[in-house]
Amino acid sequence: MPAKGKGGILIHSRIVGTGSYLPSRVLTNFDLEKLVDTSHEWIVTRSGIVERHLAVEGEQASDMAFHASQRALGAAGIGADEIDLIIVATTTPDQILPSTACILQDKLGIKKAVAFDVQAVCSGFVYALNTADLYIRGGQASNALVVGAEVLSHLLNWEDRTTCVLFGDGAGAVVLQRSDVPGILAARLHANGSYRGMLSAEGSIRNGAVFGNPFIRMDGQAVFKFAVKVLSEVVEEVLAESKMVCNDIDWLIPHQANIRIMEATAKKLGLSMDKVVVTVDYHGNTSAASIPLALDTAVRDGRIQPGQHVLMEAVGGGFTWGAVLLRW
Ligand code: UT7
Repeated sequence: MPAKGKGGILIHSRIVGTGSYLPSRVLTNFDLEKLVDTSHEWIVTRSGIVERHLAVEGEQASDMAFHASQRALGAAGIGADEIDLIIVATTTPDQILPSTACILQDKLGIKKAVAFDVQAVCSGFVYALNTADLYIRGGQASNALVVGAEVLSHLLNWEDRTTCVLFGDGAGAVVLQRSDVPGILAARLHANGSYRGMLSAEGSIRNGAVFGNPFIRMDGQAVFKFAVKVLSEVVEEVLAESKMVCNDIDWLIPHQANIRIMEATAKKLGLSMDKVVVTVDYHGNTSAASIPLALDTAVRDGRIQPGQHVLMEAVGGGFTWGAVLLRW
């Protein structure tokens, strides 16, 4: 139940602006055919991916987050100085410390705002959005910048065809604002660390040296089965909490990992693919950036309209998974 503001009015939060950014470098499946033993046909058939964007030399998560944030602020029609909370969801921070959120804060010229990163891999954006919603409803923030930004190309072994064909780089951002009318309606998050071996990049820095394998490794089939199971479950949970049914959903914005996972989840939920926003074909899997990138695409091309119900869901390393339901 949301907290009450002045005059007894319930406090809610709603998204008032979106923005995104994709690096200029594009890597097609045909380019990948020259790097590893793969084919355009295999990649498209198994994942739905046609091409992905990769950061250029020196481009970091905070650089991409900066561009996406500026666009989100522009769409919201507010200045950076009005932001009092910055949450960056990333698995590929610029550096070990400080957080990418603090670096972004500085790049945006913001002097005062709570700023921190969230690390929940591909579920990072729904974790961050839920956190910002709780800050706003708890009265601790009024204008939150919630960003997903990833340079996954830094974590790829370009000799491992089972992973390097799947991922891409990019960033997406939203401005979440305190509101008297409901925007975010419900959220459910989960994690189970006992599944951490299914998708990992196990390297760490110890005494100045890289320890272990720093590259992404994944048991693709196990992740696939797990994803379809938990995503449909968590969608049902948020719908039940909101006393809604699948038919009430205007747009499903899934984490963009694999078109077959999206199709299988939609089928399990009885949802037509016409209602699913798909960007995996031209973005690849951008982990925490994939949902805000897809959201911004569907907002800017006019698919998402005021009053519509939008459901976001994601699953990723951890394992973590979650869903957020909102009214646009
Ligand atoms: O974002 C976090 C969540 N991540 C995901 O959701 C990813 C989930 N998993 C998937 O998307 C799919 O499992 C993959 C796209 C990773 C793989 O698709 P799959 O249909 O599960 O293929 P597979 O792993 O069963 O591999 C089938 C065959 C194997 O050859 P054999 O053993 O049948 O001879 C692989 O060695 O395809 C081979 N293969 C490839 N062939 C060409 C694996 N990678 C490639 C490749 N190009 N890049």
